[in-house]
Amino acid sequence: MTTSRIKKAVFPVAGLGTRFLPATKAQPKEMMPIVDKPLIQYAVEEAYAAGIRHMIFVTGRNKRAIEDHFDTAYELENELESARKDALLNIARSVAPDDMNCSYVRQPRMLGLGHAVLCAEHLVGDEPFAVLLADDLMAGPPGGEPVLVQMARAFERLRGSILAVQEVPQEHTRRYGIVDGEPAGKGVINVHRMVEKPKPEDAPSRMGVAGRYILTPEVFAAIRAQPQGAGGEIQLTDGIAALIKTQNVYAFQYEGKRYDCGSKEGFLEATVEFALQHPEVGEHFRGYLKSLAL
Ligand code: G1P
Repeated sequence: MTTSRIKKAVFPVAGLGTRFLPATKAQPKEMMPIVDKPLIQYAVEEAYAAGIRHMIFVTGRNKRAIEDHFDTAYELENELESARKDALLNIARSVAPDDMNCSYVRQPRMLGLGHAVLCAEHLVGDEPFAVLLADDLMAGPPGGEPVLVQMARAFERLRGSILAVQEVPQEHTRRYGIVDGEPAGKGVINVHRMVEKPKPEDAPSRMGVAGRYILTPEVFAAIRAQPQGAGGEIQLTDGIAALIKTQNVYAFQYEGKRYDCGSKEGFLEATVEFALQHPEVGEHFRGYLKSLAL
């Protein structure tokens, strides 16, 4: 897909990544690699595949490495060029294709995901946009479309905000925004209710939001009207829950797999599975894993 109604993507990347200390003491968690590519690049590539060309990063202090990553690396490129290392040069250059624009805005205080999205309002303007949480590494089904591509396609049909959802274990509802609603076609739920991180006994369903959203611009006013929610933060979930009163909001059961790379377990699972599929190291790594006496 090269043209899309969704032209802009917001990447909230201001979080401190404390769950990965000490690795995140001086580097952004979004720059941690799964095999050889930083988490943020996977998310940006997914947005690019969905036809999005304007990437908006909501950053904070200590996040300069992200800006540098999506900029030209003159010294590196010069070195690789004169050494005629064309394959490596292509890898370095392809991080930021010529037709991709990046904007950066700071979230000066950690007031929550809803607040982070609000920080991008003036760059998004009055049009639908995507939000991608890079912690959630989303793999499309083998040979199939990336998750945001599936969602952009669904948006063409549904013309309302869309949240990626997956069924989560009852005991894990506390980790997610949980939605409840009526089935509205294959894999689509018309959302009636949405709660941020409910206790298992209070959860209205087991449908948990994964970190991919397509939102209509009315969500900004809805977020702004929210008081502090779960954890004392301005929650994106609460803004979307308020939007439901005036617009249809849909949950979308994507095809593919989510890796929670905000957790050590999820990060390791992604590392192992992506390594197994990696064209350069996959075969050797498979043999190595088999040789381990587990
Ligand atoms: C955020 C959202 C939550 C969503 C989750 C997906 O929570 O607030 O609704 O289910 O991302 O990863 P976080 O994981 O940032 O605490």
